[in-house]
Amino acid sequence: MNTLSNRKILIGITGSIAAYKACELVRILKQAGAKVRVVITQGGLEFITPMTLQALSGERVWTDLLDPESEAAMGHIELARWADLILIAPASANFIARFITGMADDLLTTLCLASTVPIYMAPAMNQQMWLNTITQQNITKLRALGVGLWGPAIGGQACGETGPGRMIEPVELLEKLQLSFNNGALAGKRVVITAGPTQEALDPVRYLANHSSGKMGYAIAEAARAAGADVILISGPVHLARPEGIEVITVTTAEQMYKAVMHKLSACDVFIGAAAVADYRLQDIAQQKIKKTEETLTLRLVKNPDILAAVAAKQDKPLMIGFAAETEDVLNYARQKLIEKNVDMIVANQVGHGVGFESDDNTVTFLLRNGKEQSLTKQNKQQVASKLVEVIASLLTQPTEK
Ligand code: C5P
Repeated sequence: MNTLSNRKILIGITGSIAAYKACELVRILKQAGAKVRVVITQGGLEFITPMTLQALSGERVWTDLLDPESEAAMGHIELARWADLILIAPASANFIARFITGMADDLLTTLCLASTVPIYMAPAMNQQMWLNTITQQNITKLRALGVGLWGPAIGGQACGETGPGRMIEPVELLEKLQLSFNNGALAGKRVVITAGPTQEALDPVRYLANHSSGKMGYAIAEAARAAGADVILISGPVHLARPEGIEVITVTTAEQMYKAVMHKLSACDVFIGAAAVADYRLQDIAQQKIKKTEETLTLRLVKNPDILAAVAAKQDKPLMIGFAAETEDVLNYARQKLIEKNVDMIVANQVGHGVGFESDDNTVTFLLRNGKEQSLTKQNKQQVASKLVEVIASLLTQPTEK
């Protein structure tokens, strides 16, 4: 489903070196079928020319508030009314500060004030400017106003520094835009998702774990949220930003994850087990650091609760989706799991060879209870998540499919 086809997207470009990335963003948005109009601030014009954006958007580019020619062609209020969504990319510290004070001293700030459609910003600035208390206070205010924030990413910056402040890549912005238009499919539904690995302590300094990054589960949580669901994400230890608008419960061990899930199951419509839960934990965790005095060391492990199976065993069980991460014979193991775990759907998940754990990409097959199977080509986890949400939404509306 292409959610961007014929969507009217107003891109605001402000004064940041990341303005050059906005060109690629406009190009791929047009390719995805969106209608794009571009407004560039005076700061933005220091980095990019209207001619470039005009060629890429196929439309004239707006730069001035008090330009009689522009106003005659399409007034600023009309431009504000035209858009289905406004995305400021890049959003500089200066633009954010002006926006937050309600200024209307140029075309872009005025448009934002005059518009009622969702506004998103992709901040881009020097890392110290981003970390500055004034900027952070402005960001808190933006969030409170309901402005969606996409990024910034952490990494190397044009100024030579490293830290948070890079504008996220155009292709990621495109995916986020797709998700933001994909809303409504899970409106009013409560979705509980487990994500990431669990860690099982051996002693006060060591643990057993696995390579799960949590990226798949977090992407599903964001896609479900974008589709209007009320999402609870129960996450093992990961290095990912907390997704906005989602209740996140962090846990360490499988037993803690089990308890958190059971505690949050009431009124749950969909349960998605995307976590790589440790199957075993230590029977007796050493109170002090284990010493390497012996040549061999035997650890006695006991089975952890199977969270997915425990939820599936409940009488009023929600729609159940499990994952089967396998390195070989993926589909056969997945088909077995569909039956054994008594779930409505298994996402069979090849791990290793650059996909699955830790990777940004995934190669999956959806296996449904009714025997239907759908294999997706290798794609990024946001795309997989978006397709999974579509299938879940259709399962919820077709009870016989369950
Ligand atoms: O049994 P296996 O680990 O292969 O099954 C994978 C599926 O079961 C995943 O959806 C995973 O989240 C879930 N699972 C669980 N609790 C466990 C083990 C696996 O919820 N203890």
